[in-house]
Amino acid sequence: MTVTMATMRTILLSCLLFTCGKVLGLSGNFWHITDIHWDPTYKHTENPELVCASSGKRPAPSAGKFGDYLCDAPWDLINSTVYAMKYILPDPDFIVWTGDDTAHVPNEDLGEEAVLSIISNLTHIIKLVFPNTKVYSALGNHDYHPKNQLPPAQNNIYEQTAQLWQGWLEPESQTTFRTGGYYTENLLNRPGYRVVVLNTNLYYDQNKATEEVDDPAGQFNWADHVLTEAANNKEKVYIIGHVPPGFFEKKRSKPWFRPNFNKRYLELIQKHHSLIIGQFFGHHHTDSFRMFYSSEGSPISTMFLTPGVTPWKTTLPGVIDGANNPGIRVFEYDTQTLLVKDMVTYYLNLTHANMAQARWEKEYRFTESFRVPDASPASMHQAVERMASDRCYLQKYYEFNSVNYDLTECNSDCRVDHVCAAREVDFERYEHCLEKERASSTGVAMLPVLSVVISLVWASC
Ligand SMILES: *[C@@H]1O[C@H](CO)[C@@H](O)[C@H](O)[C@H]1NC(C)=O
Ligand SMILES: *[C@@H]1O[C@H](CO)[C@@H](O)[C@H](O)[C@H]1NC(C)=O
Ligand SMILES: *[C@@H]1O[C@H](CO)[C@@H](O)[C@H](O)[C@H]1NC(C)=O
Ligand SMILES: [Zn+2]
Ligand SMILES: [Zn+2]
Repeated sequence: MTVTMATMRTILLSCLLFTCGKVLGLSGNFWHITDIHWDPTYKHTENPELVCASSGKRPAPSAGKFGDYLCDAPWDLINSTVYAMKYILPDPDFIVWTGDDTAHVPNEDLGEEAVLSIISNLTHIIKLVFPNTKVYSALGNHDYHPKNQLPPAQNNIYEQTAQLWQGWLEPESQTTFRTGGYYTENLLNRPGYRVVVLNTNLYYDQNKATEEVDDPAGQFNWADHVLTEAANNKEKVYIIGHVPPGFFEKKRSKPWFRPNFNKRYLELIQKHHSLIIGQFFGHHHTDSFRMFYSSEGSPISTMFLTPGVTPWKTTLPGVIDGANNPGIRVFEYDTQTLLVKDMVTYYLNLTHANMAQARWEKEYRFTESFRVPDASPASMHQAVERMASDRCYLQKYYEFNSVNYDLTECNSDCRVDHVCAAREVDFERYEHCLEKERASSTGVAMLPVLSVVISLVWASC
C-alpha cells in the first residue's frame, strides 16, 4: 500500500515537473524544415526591380531586412529561422530537412559550383546551431544543376553532397546516396525503427534524365526490398522526401510525378502501409497533407506537407497570389509506435518582421484547430472530411495553407481543389473527386436554405 502511494506520488510529481509522456518515455519531437531557397543576390536597393534575382524583374518596392513575398529567402531570414528553431525547441530528437536550397533563377545564373556552395552553406548553419542533432536530409529538385535534372546514376553533386552530409549519414547510406540520392537507416540507431529517405525528384515530370527509365536508379525496387525486410523485422518506418505524388492544391489538375511513377508510388505505400507510420515531404511551400486509402476505402497513411521557409510568390501560371509566410514545424510523436500525435506550426509574419522585428509565433496546433485526438490517418481523414463539409474548417485550413498570408475566402472552386488534392493521390480518383465535389458545390448553391445552415455552422468551429 505504502509502496503504491509512493509510486503514485512519484508519478504525479514527475507529471507536474515534466509532461507525463516524457516520463513514460513515450513522447518525442522533431523539427521539419523545407524549401529554404536561399537567394544570395537579395539586397536593399532603391531600384525595386533589382532587389533579388528570384523576383524575375517583378518589382519589390516594400522589400525589407527579412525578405519579400516576391523573393526567395535572404540570409537574414535563414539565420532568423534556424535560431528560432533553436529557441523554440533546442533539443529535438532529430531534424527532417527536405531540400530545395537554391533560388528560383534561370540555370544560367547558377551552375554546379553555385548549387554546391549553397547546399554547403545551409548545411553549415544547421550544423552550427544544432551540432549534436541527427539530421535526415533529402535533395530537392532545385538542388541540382541544371535544376530538376537529378540523374538516376552517380554524379558529382550526389558525391559532394554525401561528403557535406557525412556527419549525418551512416556509411551504408553514403553508398546509396552517391548512386541514387536515397538512403535508409535505423531511426536514431534504434532497432525496430527505420527512416527511408527517397529521391522522388527522379519522378518529377520536369526531369528529362528519367523520362524513359522504368525504375530510375532502381529506387522503387530498392524501396520495396527495404520495406519487405523492414516488415520481416517488424520495424516501423518514416518516409522522407521532397516532391510529393498527387496534385498541387492551388492549381487544379496539376500533378508533379509522371503518371507511371505516381501509380507505382501509390502501390508501394498500399503494399507496405502497415509499417509506414508517417511520410514527410515539402516542395509545395504550402501547408497541406495527402491521404492514402486502402482499396476498401479506409485511411491507411498520411503524407504531411510542411510549409516552406521561402516566402516566394510562385510564378506557376494559373496560381493567383501564391506566396506564403515563412513556416517551420514541430512534429510530436510516440517514440514506441512512431504515431504522429500532433504538429505545431510556427511562422514569421514577414510584413511585421520587416516593419518591427522578427517575431516567430505559434501559428496553430493541429489537434486543437481541427478537434481531433492526434494526427493518425483516421484523424487526418476526419480533418479532410470536415474541410469538405464545414466551411469553418475549410477556411481555417485555407488560411494555414499559405501560413496566414492569404486570408481571403476559400470559395467553392477553392474547396474542390483543396479537398480533392488532399483526398486523392491517384490521378483517376482525383478527377472523379473533382466531378463529385463540383456537383455537390452547385447543389449547395442552388439550395438557399442549406447555405443558411452552412453559414450558421461557420461560426461553430
Ligand atoms: C543570427 O541570429 C542570431 C539570433 O537572432 C543573432 O544573434 C545573430 O547575430 C544573427 N547572425 C547574423 C549573421 O545575422
Ligand atoms: C553563409 O553565407 C553567408 C552570406 O555569404 C555568410 O554570411 C555566412 O557566414 C555563411 N554561413 C555559413 C555558416 O557558412
Ligand atoms: C502581419 O503583420 C501585419 C503588420 O503588422 C498585420 O497588418 C497583419 O494583420 C499580420 N498578419 C497576421 C496574420 O497576423
Ligand atoms: Zn521549393
Ligand atoms: Zn521543389
